[in-house]
Amino acid sequence: MSTTFLFIGAGRMAESMIKGLQSSKDQNISIIAGNQGNTERLQQLFSLYAVETTTDWIHHVRESSVIVLAVPPDAHDAVLEKLSTAIDGQLVISVAAGIGLKKLEDNLPSRTPVAWVMPNTASEAGESMSIYTHAETLDANQEQQLKILLDSIGSSEKCTEEQIHKLTAVTGSAPAFLYEFASALINAASSYGISEGQARKLVSQMIYGSAVMLKSGLSPIDLREAVTTPGGATAAGLEILKEADFGQLIQKAVQATNERAAELGKALKE
Ligand SMILES: NC(=O)c1ccc[n+]([C@@H]2O[C@H](COP(=O)([O-])OP(=O)(O)OC[C@H]3O[C@@H](n4cnc5c(N)ncnc54)[C@H](OP(=O)(O)O)[C@@H]3O)[C@@H](O)[C@H]2O)c1
Repeated sequence: MSTTFLFIGAGRMAESMIKGLQSSKDQNISIIAGNQGNTERLQQLFSLYAVETTTDWIHHVRESSVIVLAVPPDAHDAVLEKLSTAIDGQLVISVAAGIGLKKLEDNLPSRTPVAWVMPNTASEAGESMSIYTHAETLDANQEQQLKILLDSIGSSEKCTEEQIHKLTAVTGSAPAFLYEFASALINAASSYGISEGQARKLVSQMIYGSAVMLKSGLSPIDLREAVTTPGGATAAGLEILKEADFGQLIQKAVQATNERAAELGKALKE
């Protein structure tokens, strides 16, 4: 069965999803990318992915099976109001931070099938860790369409709406924590006389290799123990992290992220 994905919003996240869907080479998928007037951006997406583009997305709602809201959270009110005049049972997916299902359900006709997906920046490389939830109103075909979109950008895990609000700190924000760690390590490596490029290679491959080991299913504690001889060099380094209460620091960073997200989410509802 053919599926037409209409993207409302044609920014970075929409591009990651368009790229992912296009690379699946599924002949039954058509894509329309829309925004609110940036024609230069649409031209760019057309050149890169040969997708149909529009600044008048409302006229493409009827022909679409899935509508992806890839606009900023604060643009949702305006977009949903407009969309509600044309929608007729199609699946609506928002990828915006803090939105939730209720916001979509409250602003669309009753029983519109809706889903909320939180991808992360690695979607760009087809390596997102996305978390998602959806309403009970999706039929089997729409669940499959949602899966196609999620699979096109990486891995995914179904969670409750409340869990998504909390776990976005881990899947969505923690990449920034990891990049901070990487940057500090690159600085440390550079201080031993190698170029920044060499330092970056060392650190990025080390993180990639460690991620592959983690993904193999071994626990981080077992992996840590495997490289730590009691009284040895790695143990001395770990001791410094322990003294600085590294675990507690990460907990606090996740908590602070969630507190700020809750404040921003509250502002979104007002
Ligand atoms: N980037 C990420 O890594 C990431 C990760 C997770 C979730 N997200 C979510 O994805 C959404 C989009 O993020 P992004 O990074 O792709 O943003 P972006 O690059 O700034 O793109 C935003 C897009 O939304 C369009 N837009 C804004 N208001 C609109 C309206 N009223 N009607 C139609 N189109 C409108 C813009 O069109 P114009 O150019 O015409 O203004 C632009 O194409 C956000 O809600 C964000 O929370 C992003």
